[in-house]
Order: sequence, then structure tokens, then C-alpha cells
Amino acid sequence: MATLEIRDLHVTVEADNATKEILKGVDLTVKQGETHAIMGPNGSGKSTLAYALAGHPKYTVSSGTVTLDGEDVLEMSVDERARAGLFLAMQYPVEVPGVSVSNFLRTSATAVRGEAPKLRTWVKEVREAMERLSIDPAFAERNVNEGFSGGEKKRHEILQLELLKPKIAVLDETDSGLDVDALRVVSEGVNRVRESGEVGTLLITHYTRILRYIKPDHVHVFANGRIVESGGPELADTLENEGYEAYTKGGASE
Ligand SMILES: Nc1ncnc2c1ncn2[C@@H]1O[C@H](COP(=O)(O)OP(=O)(O)OP(=O)(O)O)[C@@H](O)[C@H]1O
Ligand SMILES: [Mg+2]
Repeated sequence: MATLEIRDLHVTVEADNATKEILKGVDLTVKQGETHAIMGPNGSGKSTLAYALAGHPKYTVSSGTVTLDGEDVLEMSVDERARAGLFLAMQYPVEVPGVSVSNFLRTSATAVRGEAPKLRTWVKEVREAMERLSIDPAFAERNVNEGFSGGEKKRHEILQLELLKPKIAVLDETDSGLDVDALRVVSEGVNRVRESGEVGTLLITHYTRILRYIKPDHVHVFANGRIVESGGPELADTLENEGYEAYTKGGASE
């Protein structure tokens, strides 16, 4: 079973000619087959963790380690991370002008699988995955994320997730901007992938809404750049009722 291990991760960004530390020692282990939810208030550093795992150039790892099955993820290029089995869905997915969804998916699948999927079976695979996610077939010919509504972007992410079958998937605010129907469709997609038992999922959110559909095995509270508490699914209910105040009092911004 593949294991993603994050140890004492510190991450900084350059802003206004100053170096600002955003992540202040994150420790987390996600195994294939497990579902973890990271919950925390706005600005606590959740997306920064996702960007750092993705290898975004703006985010500098100042110390700590990230390994996937013992391999140093931080040493890998963005492509190598995908090939190693990491999938990262960002809170604000970027537009890829001039590249159709269908080409994008095939290129990604080729990179991840190490060979181009056979065209005939691939077309069928994509069509079926799109049907399951109630995505209009016409979408395949549109440019990636260009003019997509918030909900369409999120469905497109889950489409990638289902087709690429990573070992570890990090989903940042996959629930944001979704209406109730879309939330259900997207959650069903995540659950399908999860039921395969072959994907470890790190679900980042600040609402418990999505956790009505996707039941995490572990819940972590993220505050001020680190995980400050971990527990089982019941922790999400506590957060729903009591908010994050208990974790943010006194040291919110330093
Ligand atoms: N590129 C950047 N330049 C400057 N500051 C940044 C940058 N990226 C993140 N930050 C700062 O780091 C802090 C954490 O941001 P991050 O986006 O990780 O929070 P978050 O927990 O994902 O919040 P939300 O729940 O609103 O999505 C914020 O104060 C943010 O302004
Ligand atoms: Mg965020």
C-alpha cells in the first residue's frame, strides 16, 4: 500500500519583499485506501499545503520532508509527481486555453500510465466516466476550464480523478460553489474512487457539508499553519457545532 508521509513541513512565500512562513510544521500520513479530511478556518494554510505538494514554484519548502513510498516527492518535477501517483486538484483550477478537455485527459493519462491509452477503449472510458458525472458530452471539445462554471470545474476535476486513478489524491475545496445536486454527483465520484480501496484521499474543506456524503476515516483540524488536532469522523461534528474558535484564539496571525 502506498503511503504519503509529510514530516515537519515548513513552507514560505515571498510577499511584499518579505519571506512569510505559512506552514509551520505539518505532520501527516495518508495511506492508500484511507480518507482524511483537513478542516480549518480561512487563511490557515490548507491550500498552501496543497500547492506545496503540487510543487507550485511560489511556495518554498524551507524544511521538512514529503515522501511517497519512501521516495522524495519534493525532489520530483510536477510531471514526476503525477507519474508517482499523486493527484492534486486545486481550489482555483487554471484555464488551459487551446487545449480541449479530451486532449488534456488523454495527455494526462499517457503521462501517468506511461503509454498512450488505446484510442478505442479510451473514448469509451471517457464517455462512461462523463456520463457517471452527468457531464454533457460536448464538454470534451471545450478548452480546459475556459469559461467553465465553478461546478463544471469541480466535475472536471473528479473526471480526471476517476480516469487517472492515482494512489493519493489531494482535493482542495472540491465542494466549494457546488449546488446540492452537483455536490452529490461529485461526492459519488470521490466515493467510487475510494471504494476501489486503491486511492488515499486528502479532502481539504472548511465546511462539514461534503462530509455528509463522503465519510472520512480521519479528521484533522488545521490552524495557523499546522495540524492542531486529529480525530475520527466525530471531530467534524464537533467543528460543525463549535466552529474553529477554540483553535484560533490567541495566535491567529503569527
Ligand atoms: N502566494 C502568496 N502570496 C502571499 N501570501 C500568500 C500566498 N499564498 C498564501 N498566502 C497567505 O498564506 C495564508 C494561508 O493561505 P491559504 O490559501 O493556504 O489558506 P486556506 O487555509 O486555504 O484558506 P481558505 O479556507 O480561504 O481557502 C493566507 O494568509 C494567505 O494570504
Ligand atoms: Mg484554500
